[in-house]
Amino acid sequence: MSSSIATVSYIGATILFILSLGGLSHPESSRRGNLYGILGMTIAVLATVFGPQVTTQGYAWIIGAMVVGGSIGLYAARTVKMTQMPELVALMHSLVGLAAALVGYANYIDPAASGHLQGVEKVIHEIEIYVGILIGAVTFSGSIIAFCKLSGRIGGKPLLLPGRHWLNLLGLLIILYFGREFVHAESIEAGMKPLIIMTVVSLLFGIHMVMAIGGADMPVVVSMLNSYSGWAAAATGFMLSNDLLIVTGALVGSSGAILSYIMCKAMNRNFISVIAGGFGTGGGAPAKAKGDAEPVGEVVSISAVETAELLRDAKNVIIVPGYGMAVAQAQHTVFEITKLLRGKGVNVRFGIHPVAGRMPGHMNVLLAEAKVPYDIVMEMDELNEDFPDTDVTMVIGANDIVNPAAQEDPTSPIAGMPVLEVWKAKTSIVMKRSMASGYAGVDNPLFYKENNRMLFGDAKKMLDEVLVALKS
Ligand code: TAP
Repeated sequence: MSSSIATVSYIGATILFILSLGGLSHPESSRRGNLYGILGMTIAVLATVFGPQVTTQGYAWIIGAMVVGGSIGLYAARTVKMTQMPELVALMHSLVGLAAALVGYANYIDPAASGHLQGVEKVIHEIEIYVGILIGAVTFSGSIIAFCKLSGRIGGKPLLLPGRHWLNLLGLLIILYFGREFVHAESIEAGMKPLIIMTVVSLLFGIHMVMAIGGADMPVVVSMLNSYSGWAAAATGFMLSNDLLIVTGALVGSSGAILSYIMCKAMNRNFISVIAGGFGTGGGAPAKAKGDAEPVGEVVSISAVETAELLRDAKNVIIVPGYGMAVAQAQHTVFEITKLLRGKGVNVRFGIHPVAGRMPGHMNVLLAEAKVPYDIVMEMDELNEDFPDTDVTMVIGANDIVNPAAQEDPTSPIAGMPVLEVWKAKTSIVMKRSMASGYAGVDNPLFYKENNRMLFGDAKKMLDEVLVALKS
């Protein structure tokens, strides 16, 4: 394939990637967005493999790598549970980081890649390599720690070393010092020492950065690492003089940064303080498991039959799904109930919190899978004012996102996080298996409110019973 056809293909792929991102911004267009992405990636891979930068001897390696990588990817995608998606994503980010770091080393060692460069060009190329390996190493180790935290292999508590900001500053100074050494190195052998020292420091920095972040802030960290992986790919693009990789990396990097910002806003967190570490900490102390004001009062339980009666008599119902609905895979039964109630003239809507579940858009994906119409699925901001006019809110396996302590208890670790104000409805029903806390490990005073009822049990099982009662 000539280089001009490869360039045109790259431009086509870039446009498709942009269209893909645009499509993914709304549930209705997300399928189309996915298709654009697949098409763009296919064109990009074909144009690269058959383009001028790859020789025919390289085909066997590429095909071998694609078969191994593709099989692992296919296996992972088929076996991973929806609730394990963030861990998988974190693991994939680590691979992008590792690839960027390895490409950096290969590029530095390979005389064909940089041997002909002189003067300023050589310095710029070496800076690209140094920065690429730096971002790659931070992304790699940070993502591995994020994976371990999300999968429960490491506890969610922030690790706050004494003088941690000074440690970070020291790391930065070491990286800058050895960056200077690297650029001034006389030979490749001489440059390897500063490069390896910087890589070790960057790996430690990645570990330290994510270890210092509290469990409740992990969603932001995952999207932040997503952004880093984009910049790592862009750096690889500079090293390999591949325009498409630069553009694609920049798209991933900037969209990840925007997503992190949106999620910080949804959790009322300051972006810088999330990265600096420690959730709900005033002066740098680890987050407490509970707020000072522990909820008091009695918990009133309700049966599935009584729930069905309340729903049947209601005019306005809001359903708030959370992580528990994903665990129980109750979305199909939820939709059966919704159809039945709507058939009886009840106004049923869904309230979606931006960080409900364990990944951005988690609830939207589940509800779309169950074929819930998009026009009754509302964002938190669109719905929060409507709770006082609502007869019944049904909270299905959600906890942190409906916790009034976020508004009522300034000492709570989740104080200030915007929540769905379900307790303002005439009656709220919380469906969960026990009194256990949610992801943030915080007690929930909602359970003790006078107008709240608890429907204890697995969400799917309880909703099946509600459905049977509604039908009878
Ligand atoms: P959580 O606060 O984690 O609460 C989920 C509740 O579901 C738990 O209290 C659990 O109580 C219940 N549950 C679990 N399995 C169940 C089942 N089979 N049937 C019925 N209930 C079940 O979830 P949330 O309200 O969706 O809030 C999300 C939290 O996760 C936030 O703190 C958020 O910051 C964090 N987070 C979000 C993301 C993204 S991006 N969305 C990523 C990582 C973390 P029982 O054990 O008593 O049943």
